[in-house]
Amino acid sequence: MLELSHVHKVYRVGAFGGGRLRAVRDVSLTVEPGEVVSLIGESGSGKSTLGKMVLGLSRPTGGTITFDGTDITTIRGHAARKEYYRRVQGVFQDPFSCFNPIFKADRVFEMIRTSYFPGVSDADWRDRVLAALATVRLDPGNVLGKYPHQLSGGQLQRVLIARALLLDIKLLVADEIISMLDASTRIDVLNLLSDLKERGLGILFVTHDLSLGNYVSDKSVILRKGAVAEMGPTLRVFENPLHPYSRHLLSCVPQLHRTWAEVDAELAANPPEDVVLPVAADEESAPLLEVEEGHFVGIDQG
Ligand SMILES: Nc1ncnc2c1ncn2[C@@H]1O[C@H](COP(=O)(O)OP(=O)(O)OP(=O)(O)O)[C@@H](O)[C@H]1O
Ligand SMILES: [Mg+2]
Repeated sequence: MLELSHVHKVYRVGAFGGGRLRAVRDVSLTVEPGEVVSLIGESGSGKSTLGKMVLGLSRPTGGTITFDGTDITTIRGHAARKEYYRRVQGVFQDPFSCFNPIFKADRVFEMIRTSYFPGVSDADWRDRVLAALATVRLDPGNVLGKYPHQLSGGQLQRVLIARALLLDIKLLVADEIISMLDASTRIDVLNLLSDLKERGLGILFVTHDLSLGNYVSDKSVILRKGAVAEMGPTLRVFENPLHPYSRHLLSCVPQLHRTWAEVDAELAANPPEDVVLPVAADEESAPLLEVEEGHFVGIDQG
């Protein structure tokens, strides 16, 4: 479905753009429907750069990226771009920065409706939103009509995934989507990714955390300084890393084989106490800060 072939990315850096930084070097990989491919590497290894190129947010310096046989660098014009984003969406590390705090969080759904489904009736649209929320296991009463600051990071992250699902996407680029979440919320989001995979979604799962790559993916790609150090079925890469760099990375991780499934089981055996804090009445509906439109930059609000 997605194929990267000999992809390179060189950034101009330094004063007056005189320097060159090779962020991605000769990367080739594929993602099939229903396949989770982990891109694993240290900070600066080029993971997000690859994700951005797949999302058309950055142009490759060399090589090709094809989606269902179309070279995405040849996509031109509003209609063709819109069609691409109907199939391919990204969710990023910091869910807070993706929402404009002056609008209610479910505005991201309305924006999808305006752009992609202007003819759909109110009742039909409501059903679709409820179905997407059910898929990401969010209670509509807990999120609809709420401002971003009234939702947790995990809820916001799931709202963004639900937004992507309204589009009937085929590929999700998930760039460090759980690094800002706590352990139990991480498990919820990881299990959600497994469900989506079962439904045939392809996922490019970007992470610097080896244990997460191990938990969710079918195939693992270990990146080092922009190049593929090792790639293969996740079980093989984790049990028998061939490249010295992969062996080094794996040896640096304590308790590598303690997967999130085991953490999940431990949590289930000793559930943390549920503490409910009182909320002041005026905190319920208004955003915390007065913010001017345009003040905040997010993927949905531009
Ligand atoms: N727009 C840009 N202009 C110049 N250099 C960039 C740009 N974006 C990224 N880089 C550089 O490219 C390299 C790869 O960055 P990238 O963001 O892809 O890393 P990453 O693997 O996602 O790291 P992290 O785990 O910290 O998110 C880094 O050296 C980074 O400084
Ligand atoms: Mg990154």
